[in-house]
Amino acid sequence: MRGFGSLLGLFLLVPTLAFAQEWAHFAPPPMKNEPPVEAANGMAVSAQHLASEVGAQILKQGGNAIDAAVAIGYALAVTYPSAGNIGGGGLATIHLANGRDTFINFREKAPLAASANMYLDAKGNVVPMASLYGYKAVAVPGTVAGLEMMLTKYGTMTRARLMAPAIRLAEEGFVLMPGDVAFFKANDEYFRKEPNVAAIFLKSGKPLAAGDRLVQKDLAATLKQISAKGPDVFYKGDIAARVVAASKARGGLLTMKDFASYTAEEMPTVNCDYRGYRIVSAPPPSSGGPIICEIANILSAYPMDRMGHHSAKSIHFMVEAMRHAYVDRNFGLGDPNFVKNPLDKILSPAHATAIRAKIDPVKATPSSGVKPGVPPHEDAQTTHYSVVDKDGNAVSITYTINGISSGFGAQVIAGNTGFFLNNEMDDFTSKVGAPNLYGLVQGASNSIQPGKRPLSSMSPTVVTKDGKLFMVTGSPGGSFIITTVLESILNVVDHKMNVKQAVDMPRLHHQWLPDVITAEPGAIKPEVKEELEAAGYKISEENNLLFGFDEAIVVGTRNGKRVVWGANDRRATAGSAVGY
Ligand code: GLY
Repeated sequence: MRGFGSLLGLFLLVPTLAFAQEWAHFAPPPMKNEPPVEAANGMAVSAQHLASEVGAQILKQGGNAIDAAVAIGYALAVTYPSAGNIGGGGLATIHLANGRDTFINFREKAPLAASANMYLDAKGNVVPMASLYGYKAVAVPGTVAGLEMMLTKYGTMTRARLMAPAIRLAEEGFVLMPGDVAFFKANDEYFRKEPNVAAIFLKSGKPLAAGDRLVQKDLAATLKQISAKGPDVFYKGDIAARVVAASKARGGLLTMKDFASYTAEEMPTVNCDYRGYRIVSAPPPSSGGPIICEIANILSAYPMDRMGHHSAKSIHFMVEAMRHAYVDRNFGLGDPNFVKNPLDKILSPAHATAIRAKIDPVKATPSSGVKPGVPPHEDAQTTHYSVVDKDGNAVSITYTINGISSGFGAQVIAGNTGFFLNNEMDDFTSKVGAPNLYGLVQGASNSIQPGKRPLSSMSPTVVTKDGKLFMVTGSPGGSFIITTVLESILNVVDHKMNVKQAVDMPRLHHQWLPDVITAEPGAIKPEVKEELEAAGYKISEENNLLFGFDEAIVVGTRNGKRVVWGANDRRATAGSAVGY
């Protein structure tokens, strides 16, 4: 028991219906039943078509999936500035052709001067926007260290070769497509507040539009420094110094020591078996792998395939499993360097059995009855890309600078560095019981401490069958990432969809609180909705940007020949899958 039970009344004060309205402005194009992109050798899929092309070119030139992933990471930092980054952090799940799986943790860390109550006022209330906007929201970035660690350990090409396409795209610019500018329009009020941001992203006071060319000379210069001098210039040299100077001038906490002491870490993945497939995913400081596995373990005893995709029964069991698993997510997990994560329990078949015993076979169990302290729970923005090479190496990367409604992190660029800084500090628990950007109501295991990494939902995932690569998947979407990735896997494994159908299907989400099923239009048929409402569910149908862009790949055979199928999520209108 951790004494959270008495706080339940407070938790239930959070809005119980729709998520923050900012998320709802996004209306994706409808599902079109398009086939996946097919190739014989390799595939690169990302939410920005130029970055996918960069990855495919590296594969064609003989680079492996890790080389391509590094090149895409830097290319997205230029072509997808709302989330692609060098000012944020991320997680990479890597499957090597020899069958070994590994994980690179380059999640940001809290500055050394950070403290548990830094976003509260004198009365103990959360100061609105304090953890979201400006330098005080910035955690120490990890992307440059993470990409370098991947390259050094598992890549084959030089950093300079892999960064060259990104530098060219930044220096020469590229023509923006409608999908590239959707998030610009949503953020122009923030761009206006910062003259150095406005100089890059506004033209005559208006956000750049489709057809305009985005040129980023400052970013090109920064990338050239990293290309030539390596991560030291970012963490110990000139780039760190410029970020720290801007942060100090604007009330931030970052110091040279914060940058110099930043490290990426290689760690074991979190794994579980689901109907003969092995799900290989992100460990803490992400909740992604543990919670996908917990939900999958619970569902493995139900005949999800026979129940049918999004039938009243299959939705009922999925939502109940999600409800229970998010309690464990929100209260049990945090940075493993600071808290002990009860993974043995969360991943155990016995825990799944105990949860199933609590699930009413026909009725919704209100979230007020599912809580920490009660058995069995005793105790936008982001982007994802996937790469597979001809040898069967695979990289699944989700990285982020977070955002306020649709990316661009803390909405600040330090001086002439040219890159947005993250606001990942908002992923911590600012106050136990107070919802964060994603409406997540979290506990003390994720409280702010100096040098700690905030708990993430990012779920870069690989699925294998008999030790061989089968699927690569992942998504942005904050707390919705876990359920997005889970549904994509269920759609392929249980409902036998091809990878394009699997990622394009309308989705649904439940995260314990708010106690509501958030469903994309078309995800729940009217007659199913009636059945679910009669069973006690509240349903909010909305286009919601948190239903993220799952950029996925499936590998299989046809007539004895290897085939790689790639799927750019229909919601990512600037993205593409490029095979060769
Ligand atoms: N910033 C979203 C996440 O890491 O879950």
